[in-house]
Amino acid sequence: SGVERLGDMIAEARAIVPFTGAGISTECGIPDFRSPGGIWTRNRPIPFDEFVASPEARNESWRRRFAMEEVFAAAKPGRGHRALASLYRAGKVPAVITQNIDNLHQASGFASEHVVELHGNTTYARCIGCGQAYPLDWVRRRFDDDGAAPNCTACDEPVKTATISFGQMMPDDEMQRATALSQSCDLFMAIGSSLVVWPAAGFPLMAKRAGARLVIINREPTEQDDIADLVIHHDIGETLGPFVGN
Ligand code: OAD
Ligand code: ZN
Repeated sequence: SGVERLGDMIAEARAIVPFTGAGISTECGIPDFRSPGGIWTRNRPIPFDEFVASPEARNESWRRRFAMEEVFAAAKPGRGHRALASLYRAGKVPAVITQNIDNLHQASGFASEHVVELHGNTTYARCIGCGQAYPLDWVRRRFDDDGAAPNCTACDEPVKTATISFGQMMPDDEMQRATALSQSCDLFMAIGSSLVVWPAAGFPLMAKRAGARLVIINREPTEQDDIADLVIHHDIGETLGPFVGN
């Protein structure tokens, strides 16, 4: 079966690089983007230039974020996160590349320097001008007091969740680390991503071209199933649950 084959491939691999999308966190109560009921089926994305230009867009963006706070604050790592953390502790996984912003790989036991966050992190905020970090609590208080999204106390530019929006530059350092990981692994596992958002979706292809085996685990077909060595169209928690160890 697919899961047995996956077990063999994991056992044979020397350096496994997991690449995760929103599907690994749905069992933790966080909705994905493109499934029925997903974030983009309910809200249209607010592009970066609109966030910068429009105070109303900034307020709307923060209102959406505050509406999700209970979900993010309550979320615990799922079986997928825990399986990857077990492989990390066993020395089989040097680092994880993620499109997710929920901090759950860190929560499962990955050192933060071993989580490459291509799309940033929503558990804190940053000034889009000078990069100053702010706790969400601070943003919340300012929003409640002023009735509007705050600007940076240092440079007066808007403060945004530390995530990457459509139209925003990808983080250089993360792109370079993801490139190095993709080109040096012998097994690349794309888990819970529709693989439609670029440049992130380029990493499975890059790994495959550099000679790694490619495994895709996703409930629905993805854009890159045809180049994969193994495709498992099944629930992630059930598929990776057997690999949760110590
Ligand atoms: P998507 O919502 O596009 O894809 C998630 C995939 O996970 C879907 O194909 C689901 O079928 C699958 N899935 C969900 N739950 C699952 C489960 N329990 N078991 C197996 N499969 C499951 O999310 P991403 O590919 O992560 O970027 O989206 C990529 C980027 O698009 C995000 O990082 C975000 C978004 O716009 C930005 O905001 C910049
Ligand atoms: Zn600033």
